[in-house]
Amino acid sequence: MDLKWDDERTRKFVTNVGLITSKGAHGNNIMAAEWTHHVSYAPSLMAVCIGPNKATLENIRETREFGVHLAAFDQNVLSSISGGSTGKEVDKIAVLKELGVKFYNASKIDLLMLEDAVMQAECKLMQEVELGDHTMMVGEVVEIISREKEPLIYRGGKYWNFGDQIEKPEQAVLDRIKELVEKNKK
Ligand SMILES: Cc1cc2nc3c(=O)[nH]c(=O)nc-3n(C[C@H](O)[C@H](O)[C@H](O)COP(=O)(O)O)c2cc1C
Repeated sequence: MDLKWDDERTRKFVTNVGLITSKGAHGNNIMAAEWTHHVSYAPSLMAVCIGPNKATLENIRETREFGVHLAAFDQNVLSSISGGSTGKEVDKIAVLKELGVKFYNASKIDLLMLEDAVMQAECKLMQEVELGDHTMMVGEVVEIISREKEPLIYRGGKYWNFGDQIEKPEQAVLDRIKELVEKNKK
C-alpha cells in the first residue's frame, strides 16, 4: 500500500532530528532528516533516507561525503530552516550564519559541520540503496564528537523536549520476570 507523508497512522514514530550537511554542485548545504539512524557499530555506519531530487542527495552523490548531526533541544528553528527550502534555491547556510549559527570545517572530509549539536559525525558514503520513494545513503563514520545536551525530539510533525526517565520496576517485579524467563526457556 502507499501512505501519504502526513498520514496520522505513521505519525506515531518518535525520532531525533538529523541535520545533514553536504557540499557539491549546490554549494554548502544543510537539510533536516528525521530518518537518520546509527545502523552498525563496527564499522560505525550511519544511514540517512533522502527523498528524490533533493540538493543533499545530489551533493552526496557527487562528493560521496556528508555530515550527520543530531539537533539539540534549542535547534528547532535551525531545523525548520534546514527543512523549509531546498539548497537548489536558497543558500540555507548563509541564512543560518546571518542568524548567528556557527559552522566549522570538517577535519576528515571537505564540508562544513554545524557547531553545538548533540552529536556531530563526519561520514564517507559507503553504499546507496534505493528504498521505495527514498534513497538510503549509508556512510562510514570517520570522525565523531558528542556533547551533553538534550536532543530535539520530533513526533507528529512537531518538536518536543526530551521527557522524564522512567524508573525501573521494583526488585520483586524484576525477580518475578527473571523467574518467568527461566521457566519459559526453550
Ligand atoms: C523535522 C524535519 C524532518 C525531515 N526529515 C526528512 C527526511 O528524513 N528525509 C527527507 O528526505 N526529507 C526530510 N525532511 C524534508 C527536507 O529537510 C526538505 O525537503 C529540505 O528542503 C531538503 O533540502 P535540500 O533540497 O536542500 O536537500 C524533513 C524536514 C523537517 C523539517
